[in-house]
Amino acid sequence: MTLRHAPFEESWDFSIGLKPIAPDAWLEGGENDPAGRKAPLLRDHPQVVWGEAEGSRPAQAEAAALVEAALGLQGLAAEPPPLLAAALRVSDDLVLLERRDGVWRVTAVSLSAPTFFAATDVLGRSLAEIHGPVTGFSERFLARVERIFDSLRPDLILQRRNWSVVNSPEPFTPDPAPMRAKIPQIAPEAAAEALFLRVERQTLRRLPQTGAALFTIRVWLDPLSALAADPPRLAAFARAWRAAAADFRAYKRLPLYDELVASFLRAHGESHSVNAG
Ligand code: HEM
Repeated sequence: MTLRHAPFEESWDFSIGLKPIAPDAWLEGGENDPAGRKAPLLRDHPQVVWGEAEGSRPAQAEAAALVEAALGLQGLAAEPPPLLAAALRVSDDLVLLERRDGVWRVTAVSLSAPTFFAATDVLGRSLAEIHGPVTGFSERFLARVERIFDSLRPDLILQRRNWSVVNSPEPFTPDPAPMRAKIPQIAPEAAAEALFLRVERQTLRRLPQTGAALFTIRVWLDPLSALAADPPRLAAFARAWRAAAADFRAYKRLPLYDELVASFLRAHGESHSVNAG
């Protein structure tokens, strides 16, 4: 098994990391029936997975038309709100942002793989408010990220990726507490199969007519055992785990997994120490 994305090869601290990608690389696809996964979540957790602000339908329709064009579809269902109809056709989660009251705010959001947040946490909120919990975001990144949103050209698609380690293969995790409560039950020798690399691939693009921004999130989950078959990547992961900045480790709760990851790395020939030197 090979990992599709390995952002730990290049990053072990918070970063903006937005880079241009080719237009035909926008959505990665590969899932047969996204609606089969997303529709039950909408039925069982409507407030967690969907929200729209008043006045967002024109930008939603423009976003949906872009998705339709990317998929080569004829026309999305007219019934649900347009961003939701589009989200049901793709693997990615879709977040629409519009400049309102002088700041970029989330005006519609469809989630199926949220990493520890819900639609109600972000709908109507600004980039500054959403990133309040991210250590150092307002000092280090906010002004630059707002400038990127302001100056984004319609012909440019940007991508960023992040990584973390979790103890569940479940993409739908609005709340990390139930998962984290199970960490003590994991035996060190089971770490390779019980721990997962959780990688988010996000894209950002401008909608030329309404001026809105469309942010996409796709989560990829692979057991640590996927690294075992790929020595260079295993080494890169071991390096990232050791080198990760202290506030990054604390924010992602990586210390909860230190013993298990150390055991995994030892079992696979990677000597390991965290914050030891
Ligand atoms: C495109 C520019 C953006 C940048 C550079 C950015 C950057 C970051 C960073 C550095 C983090 C910490 C985790 C990580 O390393 O990824 C983070 C977390 C997060 N981001 Fe963003 N972000 C962006 C856009 C957005 C948008 C549009 C949303 C809207 C939903 C969003 C929602 C979140 C949430 C919910 C978190 C977790 C916050 C928490 O811990 O409660 N981000 N972001």
